Amino acid sequence: MEVSPSLLAADFANLSSEVGMINSSNADYLHLDVMDGVFVPNISFGFSVLDAVGKICTKPLDVHMMTVEPYKWVSHVRDCGASLMNVHVEASRHLHSTVSEIHQAGMKAGVTLNPSTPVVLLSDIIEDVELVLLMSVNPGFGGQPFIMNTLKKVRELRELIEKTGSKAKIQIDGGVNETTGRMLAEAGADILVAGSYIFGAPDPHERINILKSLS
Ligand code: DX5
Ligand code: ZN
Repeated sequence: MEVSPSLLAADFANLSSEVGMINSSNADYLHLDVMDGVFVPNISFGFSVLDAVGKICTKPLDVHMMTVEPYKWVSHVRDCGASLMNVHVEASRHLHSTVSEIHQAGMKAGVTLNPSTPVVLLSDIIEDVELVLLMSVNPGFGGQPFIMNTLKKVRELRELIEKTGSKAKIQIDGGVNETTGRMLAEAGADILVAGSYIFGAPDPHERINILKSLS
């Protein structure tokens, strides 16, 4: 299993040591949640924070855009050193064009679905993306309980990927812990995002290793 710790649950007064902890861990990526207070009812951090984190983080940056009109921010995200840009299907009027712009900027493209958005909406974009992010909570806040219907969506998405020959990885975000992580691994997930489960623990390295060992 690949693991992408979500910085949203970190101690923002000690970001450099939190990023240092991730650098020295077995995590595969660092997940960064950008919120605009419009697409989701919360505001997190913007490009100045992303840029500062990008300068000290040695893991690939996995940026999850929870903003309206994410196409406006492609070059900003790239300039912060991101490897992957995730955009919500619900926020993208011209998703194919946004995915192309992300690729042209030299990043991998991820498309993200809210819990109530069906997997079938991906059938005409799945072959063009490197990743699909399924939200297993309503986006905007950490520490929410996992929505069980996500397991069904992971299985549906796995089927769609196999049917089309897409290379997309399946990433899950929200309420991930050892128990839900195990269920997600069985359902076919490739990458687990976890915030409070990792940063809220006395030994975050151990938590990362627990998620990594799931298969
Ligand atoms: C929520 C964010 C998540 C959040 C997950 O909108 O997209 O990445 O940090 O937090 P946990 O793992 O605590 O549910
Ligand atoms: Zn996220």
